[in-house]
Amino acid sequence: MTRTMRSLMDWKDWNPDEVKELLNFAQIIEKDRFRYQGFLQNRTLVMLFQKTSTRTRVSFEAGITELGGHAIFLDWEKTNFKLSRISFETHYLSKNSDLIMARMKKNEDLEEMLSSSTVPVINGCCDKYHPCQALADMLTMASSQEKPIEGTKLTYIGVHNNVVNSLMSVCGALGVQLTLVCPEAQFIDESSRDQLLTNGLLTETLDLGAAVKDADYVYTDTWVDMEFFNDPDYQQQKEERLKLMMPYQINKKLMEGSKAKIMHDMPIHPGYEISEEMVYDERSIIFNQAANRLIAQKAIMITLLGMNHQ
Ligand code: CP
Repeated sequence: MTRTMRSLMDWKDWNPDEVKELLNFAQIIEKDRFRYQGFLQNRTLVMLFQKTSTRTRVSFEAGITELGGHAIFLDWEKTNFKLSRISFETHYLSKNSDLIMARMKKNEDLEEMLSSSTVPVINGCCDKYHPCQALADMLTMASSQEKPIEGTKLTYIGVHNNVVNSLMSVCGALGVQLTLVCPEAQFIDESSRDQLLTNGLLTETLDLGAAVKDADYVYTDTWVDMEFFNDPDYQQQKEERLKLMMPYQINKKLMEGSKAKIMHDMPIHPGYEISEEMVYDERSIIFNQAANRLIAQKAIMITLLGMNHQ
């Protein structure tokens, strides 16, 4: 089956004007959260989770409820996705719903869902991308400053992971200057990286002082993926990762003299990627960032369903 409608795997599949328009739309919703109340009346969102979640589940469910629609939560372990082919189960889902949001462990499985669905599919975070988070991050930055988002300086310190890949693609679309301090990488999307480099928007360094000095925002994420954090078989790799990453913690000393706002996509592991005192530091916009998931995803859902929002 070929894809016939718009879905969201990652922002690299969207053209920059579409991403800019979507961010503008999210900003309109942010100013008046209930402006589009009832827009998705009688629409059903199916949310399939192979992994744990707090924000993605709550923000999608609350978001579609506020728009007049309805969400169905599916825990992978309790569905027949476990017993059959992803393509067959997804094809069925798209017959009884208007939108699918899936948090899958493997990007290939999400690709299979996109190929077998007749309704838009939204990536709720896979091993390679986390686009909903990245749009919420840009919305948070845009609403935390007077100046335009283009040219804003964002420094990410941590492991190069799925969050970073989507930050690269969204920063490329919006003209955000991204500095990466990533001593370790899980997966690097080379096409998004090349695009940023070509446009002069990417700096890669291990010099923490230089990376933080002129940054408008300093951002970090977990050093160990959520499914491995408490996995007994992963403990040795976890210890090695923590040892390597400890010098890159966001803490009071690193942020001394910096006016940069502090970001983290949550869940937080205090004492690892960020010291506890920085979570509630006056420069922290972490909880606003998390709350903006709902706003950004309302914009995504309305847009993917082709509702006229002008
Ligand atoms: N940031 C994020 O995706 O949070 P959850 O894993 O809790 O959904």
